[in-house]
Amino acid sequence: MHARAARIILPISSQLYESEMKTIIAVAIAHLILLVAGSDVPGEHKRVTCYYMGVTIGTYSTLYPEDLDASICTHLVYLHGAINEETEEISLKSITPELKTGGEGFIPRLAKLKEVNPDLKLILHVADPDYNWISQKSSRKSQIIQSGIKWLNESGFDGLDMPMYWSPAEKEGVADLFCEIKSEFDKHGYILTAIFMENSFPEPPEANVDIVSKMARCCDHVALRATTTSYVTHRLAPLSLMKSNVNKYMERGLPANKTLIIVPAVGIIFTLEDPRDTGLGANVSGPGFNTSDDDSGPLIRYKELQRIMNDSSLGWTIRRDNETMEPYAFSTTGLWTSYEDGISMEFKARYVMERGLAGIAINLLETEDTGNTGEEGRFPLTRAIHNTFSRGLQSADTTP
Ligand SMILES: *[C@@H]1O[C@H](CO)[C@@H](O)[C@H](O)[C@H]1NC(C)=O
Ligand SMILES: *[C@@H]1O[C@H](CO)[C@@H](O)[C@H](O)[C@H]1NC(C)=O
Ligand SMILES: *[C@@H]1O[C@H](CO)[C@@H](O)[C@H](O)[C@H]1NC(C)=O
Ligand SMILES: *[C@@H]1O[C@H](CO)[C@@H](O)[C@H](O)[C@H]1NC(C)=O
Ligand SMILES: *[C@@H]1O[C@H](CO)[C@@H](O)[C@H](O)[C@H]1NC(C)=O
Ligand SMILES: *[C@@H]1O[C@H](CO)[C@@H](O)[C@H](O)[C@H]1NC(C)=O
Repeated sequence: MHARAARIILPISSQLYESEMKTIIAVAIAHLILLVAGSDVPGEHKRVTCYYMGVTIGTYSTLYPEDLDASICTHLVYLHGAINEETEEISLKSITPELKTGGEGFIPRLAKLKEVNPDLKLILHVADPDYNWISQKSSRKSQIIQSGIKWLNESGFDGLDMPMYWSPAEKEGVADLFCEIKSEFDKHGYILTAIFMENSFPEPPEANVDIVSKMARCCDHVALRATTTSYVTHRLAPLSLMKSNVNKYMERGLPANKTLIIVPAVGIIFTLEDPRDTGLGANVSGPGFNTSDDDSGPLIRYKELQRIMNDSSLGWTIRRDNETMEPYAFSTTGLWTSYEDGISMEFKARYVMERGLAGIAINLLETEDTGNTGEEGRFPLTRAIHNTFSRGLQSADTTP
């Protein structure tokens, strides 16, 4: 019933656990004040792209634009755009009819965040465009591009973000569409970013070099999604998978400094089949928690997870991968969870700096710790990335 929502709300959907694995999130880029222009030194300004849904799900309270901390994001991507096929224009669309918050009313409220953080880039994510439909008529393309420019001009947003799937036959056409949009956007200083949805890259590699290079040229940057699904205990987005995904795209012509990795701000929680079998790859009997998120499967919001892990009666043991610093934990009651924390986020941010990537996209602010429950304050995962990048910048600045 909520197939569309499920695809958009990547981290909070069990759809993720179905074979198709298409999902959404988004990305963005910056005309950031590059202190050292063209530099790939670790301290170069890195992007922290924050996906924001702006809708209420289940019994969770709404995260309003005023609740966001715009000081820790360089880009805020509002997951609320669509293409209206009747008017052939960019428009706002709630992710599902059931989710009524957000929408038009949030636009000026989001734009207001720039008063506090003038460098913040606001991006509208256009979900699920029907690329076949668009490419059937060239008048349609220019109508959509012009309506995008008009929308951006009126909203005070800085750009658009669109998904790129490897599945459509029209990949070449999609890349061309990005190039057409980009050349019009450049005239107005607008940003165009993409999210590459699949982490299993189509073979053979030679066949895709043209498309990847074209996309790289025609986007301000691209975010790479890398998640894994399984019915045994596992990590949702392990660093090892992110790294191999980055390598695959770079081999095909994606420049490091246009690449972001997407890190989900959710945990996975299972009930172990055998409470004594606690490692990675252990059999599970089902989700470990019933969330109030619609259709969330074994995914759990970071804040909710912290609350459960704070319950000492459950007897948690935490293990951490000594190479990636990624934690997982199991309880004496047979719960098993993997997640990100400040330490693993910092480690991923370091990887981004060492590899010369453009930054990290956090998916999603709503699933972060939005309250003030932990020691690190609100949005601790995003903050850990922001702080690591800032420290990198400072140390680069002080290097003679
Ligand atoms: C990104 O890297 C390319 C080389 O791969 C370089 O030519 C370009 O100047 C870099 N851009 C920035 C903003 O660092
Ligand atoms: C943007 O809006 C202003 C008025 O608010 C108008 O003068 C200008 O022509 C518009 N630019 C574009 C590209 O539509
Ligand atoms: C896990 O489940 C599979 C399939 O049900 C079974 O073949 C396997 O023996 C189980 N592994 C353990 C360690 O129980
Ligand atoms: C979740 O809900 C189902 C059905 O309401 C119940 O059978 C199951 O035990 C619950 N699981 C947990 C972990 O609470
Ligand atoms: C964990 O427990 C402590 C002490 O009871 C409390 O102060 C803190 O807010 C709790 N944290 C979470 C995430 O629930
Ligand atoms: C991590 O632990 C494994 C097994 O204990 C060990 O072989 C490996 O050398 C360790 N790696 C690092 C980087 O410490």
